[in-house]
Amino acid sequence: MPTILITGSSGQIGTNLFFGLRRLGFQVMGVDRRPNPWTGELPTVVTDLTDRAQVDALGGGRLGGLDLVVHLAAHAKVFELVQRPERALENIVMTYHALELSRRAGIPFIFGSSREVYGDIHRIITGESDADFVIAESPYSASKISGEALTYSYARCYGLNYLTFRFSNVYGRYDNDLERMERVVPLFIDRIARGEEVVVFGEQKVLDFTYVDDCVDGIILGIRGLLSGRVKNQTFNLAYGEGSSLVQLAHWIAEELSKPLNLRLEPSRPGEVTHYVANISKARSILGYEPKVPLREGARRTVAWWRECGRLSP
Ligand SMILES: NC(=O)c1ccc[n+]([C@@H]2O[C@H](COP(=O)([O-])OP(=O)(O)OC[C@H]3O[C@@H](n4cnc5c(N)ncnc54)[C@H](O)[C@@H]3O)[C@@H](O)[C@H]2O)c1
Repeated sequence: MPTILITGSSGQIGTNLFFGLRRLGFQVMGVDRRPNPWTGELPTVVTDLTDRAQVDALGGGRLGGLDLVVHLAAHAKVFELVQRPERALENIVMTYHALELSRRAGIPFIFGSSREVYGDIHRIITGESDADFVIAESPYSASKISGEALTYSYARCYGLNYLTFRFSNVYGRYDNDLERMERVVPLFIDRIARGEEVVVFGEQKVLDFTYVDDCVDGIILGIRGLLSGRVKNQTFNLAYGEGSSLVQLAHWIAEELSKPLNLRLEPSRPGEVTHYVANISKARSILGYEPKVPLREGARRTVAWWRECGRLSP
């Protein structure tokens, strides 16, 4: 079976992808700047992908026999990069180093991009080519736009085969380490479970929430397509394909937790996308992608996982 290298393998999507690939018999190697907090079963080379010397050490033999790179390592929090724009630059450097690993090994590359490349859109996105790279909503968007551009340039100049996936609000298991990463679903679960106030930045904000198993299914379809030579050099939106408001999300989580909802509404913050619903028809038709978990059901599963982890009182 092929061996897949996941960068950012200690993160939410990376960890879920590892388990998904392993179930199918793939070999998986991980690279991350921190050990995996969820499992000891994923061989992980602890490496800072912004550090040239550490990356050279990887290329110099610590990784071998790879068939494909899935590049997920990044500073992944939009608002954090508004406050710390130098981290956007680090994202670009990580992508460059991951692309170099692929290029030197002569293996295909999958880039974990984001719906943030579209900016704050209030029109219907009719296709992947609607991204307008002149509009970068935030330093994080700029880092994903740059990562995509570098990836496309490697395909042209070095014949690299790639797929780019634009994810959107991925949520589910292996995402409750709020000290590290405050994402909206875990944050709401934590606050509502404690009976604390929930602040929604943007009453009208509508986003496309993707249950992590759907996201992983899409990436695996891409891996299979690339490895078989059936699909290459394409960019896909990977999401559920429906919009939900944050207010609705908070209500559903409160329902699952059987707790009252104490909601405060604030305006959206700078750099945040306030409306996004993905058009997933391209992933559907080319990859056979079919998301299965609507947000209502995903909220139920995510709260159940928190219970299993012992992070909620019974
Ligand atoms: N989760 C989402 O909703 C979402 C949405 C759009 C795009 N994405 C993108 O998908 C990818 C994976 O997201 P995630 O949700 O798993 O994020 P995550 O933060 O859980 O995982 C990212 C991982 O990258 C690692 N990393 C950061 N800097 C590094 C460095 N210098 N060297 C090595 N590793 C480093 C982190 O330690 C972390 O484990 C990211 O590129 C993110 O930008 C995620």
